[in-house]
Amino acid sequence: ARTILYDCDTGIDDAMTLLYLASLVRAGEADLAGVGTVHGNVDPLTGALNTLRVLELAGIKAGEEGVPVAVGAARPMAQEVHYAADWHGTDGLGDTGLPEPEGRPVAEPAAAQIVRLARARPGELTLLATGPLTNLGAALLLDPDLPSLVREVVVMGGAFGHPGNITTHAEANIWHDPEAADLVFAADWPVVLVPLDATHPSAVHGDWLDRLAAHGTEAARFAVRVLDFYVGAYTPVLRARGAVIHDALAAMLAVRPELGEYVERPVRVELRGELTRGATVWDARSLPAEDPRRPVRVAVGSDVPEFQERLLSAIQSL
Ligand code: BDR
Ligand code: CA
Repeated sequence: ARTILYDCDTGIDDAMTLLYLASLVRAGEADLAGVGTVHGNVDPLTGALNTLRVLELAGIKAGEEGVPVAVGAARPMAQEVHYAADWHGTDGLGDTGLPEPEGRPVAEPAAAQIVRLARARPGELTLLATGPLTNLGAALLLDPDLPSLVREVVVMGGAFGHPGNITTHAEANIWHDPEAADLVFAADWPVVLVPLDATHPSAVHGDWLDRLAAHGTEAARFAVRVLDFYVGAYTPVLRARGAVIHDALAAMLAVRPELGEYVERPVRVELRGELTRGATVWDARSLPAEDPRRPVRVAVGSDVPEFQERLLSAIQSL
């Protein structure tokens, strides 16, 4: 079973990912070593409280006496902070007003937690990141040996052939901290990147949502409530009732890589473009890449029916 350290900005699709990870933990199929939160959809303290609530609701003890949830970077490295209330609500969970969690975040900052856990379990951790990459970038600055201590890094972010979702060319997680993302793609560690090109075709639609709603468990009822807000935001984009649960696809490809289709190319982040800052760039020419960077494994597609069935049954299992 994989040992996952999850970095996120909880966030509706991050919350669905926490439910998925909780189902894996409860089935003995993964170990969740910790969670760190970062600015992005909401501020990182709100994200940490959301994370604690969702894990508790999924039957996982979290906080100082359970899975540690660490608050991370409150701002990007080189620009102002922005949140995403239009997509996730001002509370990050569709303004559903959930009760306070029982557990509290730990005192250690998320970047320090990454370094500490990686040193404690060299070669074991899968870093799964579904928010801006500030904590991972900061962890790389704290410990230059980090790349050799981590098994794999799986990131939801970027857009190559697909348009951006926050500007014409940029995907939100990269756009929220382009400098940090570029540090992560430049480091000498195995990175799997799950961009909009892979996540958009995995959108769930009305039938999937109806099957979820037919399930009466507390976790399923929670998922339906928070997804309702997200579906409201996505329906005009998809021109059909539905939503893109980006982050859960990255989590599933972290534990079931065979469900993805990949190409391997060095990836850079546009840091200076007037219209394109935060865009991910790869060299798609057929010649061998001139870029000396270690290639990133970029998911360009996935087994969509399998993803959707597994996600549905994971939520139903809680
Ligand atoms: C990403 O941006 C966030 O709003 C989502 O949680 C996801 O991680 C999609 O671009
Ligand atoms: Ca996210």
